[in-house]
Amino acid sequence: MSNAITIALSKGRIFRETLPLLAAAGIVPQEDPETSRKLILDTNQPDVKLVIIRATDVPTYVQYGAADLGVAGKDVLLEHGGEGLYEMVDLNIARCRLMTAGLVNAQPHRGRLRVATKFVNVTRRFFAERGQQVEVIKLYGSMELGPIVGLSDLIVDVVDTGNTLKANGLKPMDHIADITSRLVVNKAALKMKHERIQNMVEKMRQAVQK
Ligand code: ATP
Ligand code: PRP
Repeated sequence: MSNAITIALSKGRIFRETLPLLAAAGIVPQEDPETSRKLILDTNQPDVKLVIIRATDVPTYVQYGAADLGVAGKDVLLEHGGEGLYEMVDLNIARCRLMTAGLVNAQPHRGRLRVATKFVNVTRRFFAERGQQVEVIKLYGSMELGPIVGLSDLIVDVVDTGNTLKANGLKPMDHIADITSRLVVNKAALKMKHERIQNMVEKMRQAVQK
């Protein structure tokens, strides 16, 4: 574990929406990940670095201490399981819902349902709790296509406006969880770099829009 503090972020909405919260903690990235090819970005603070990775990989980096802190959607955290990290602050950004969805004009179905998703653990748990036997098919994106091409009966994905579902002839069905992004911290780092991390966490917590 180096003495610098490393924060794991994904490009796009999480980076954009975390920027003001980082600024409140006095941290300003020196480059824009949308245009830079660099995976490690300097900040105005010499001992604070940002690593830019896939949203799904954020909990893994933080779990193993490759990043001290990270920002990840609750969907991604539920799927990961949360081992080795603490969820410190609900940042109230990237708000959406994790839902099941199916074709608007679905025919009644007999037998075991097939569900396509990148959230296989969450999906298995959800249907197991309902006592429903399903076959879960792992995908890495574009889940909406599943029911259209007959790969699956249902999907599990995040929904915000519902426009993506609608544009593909799907409708939201069961609500699995309300989702926002969370500030997560590696358990060992919180002990070893307690003061600096706690200070950052507090400033970000105070900056969260209620
Ligand atoms: P990966 O790169 O690993 O495939 P991704 O493409 O899902 O991840 P983003 O689209 O940046 O990454 O989503 C990051 C997080 O933002 C998600 O984990 C989820 O919590 C939230 N999110 C996803 N889509 C929306 C949306 N349409 N509106 C609001 N929040 C969303
Ligand atoms: C996400 C997600 C859904 C969509 C839901 O994708 O995988 O497909 O957003 O949002 P909606 O209910 O508002 O349509 P992605 O991040 O690729 O889409 P976005 O950039 O349009 O938000």
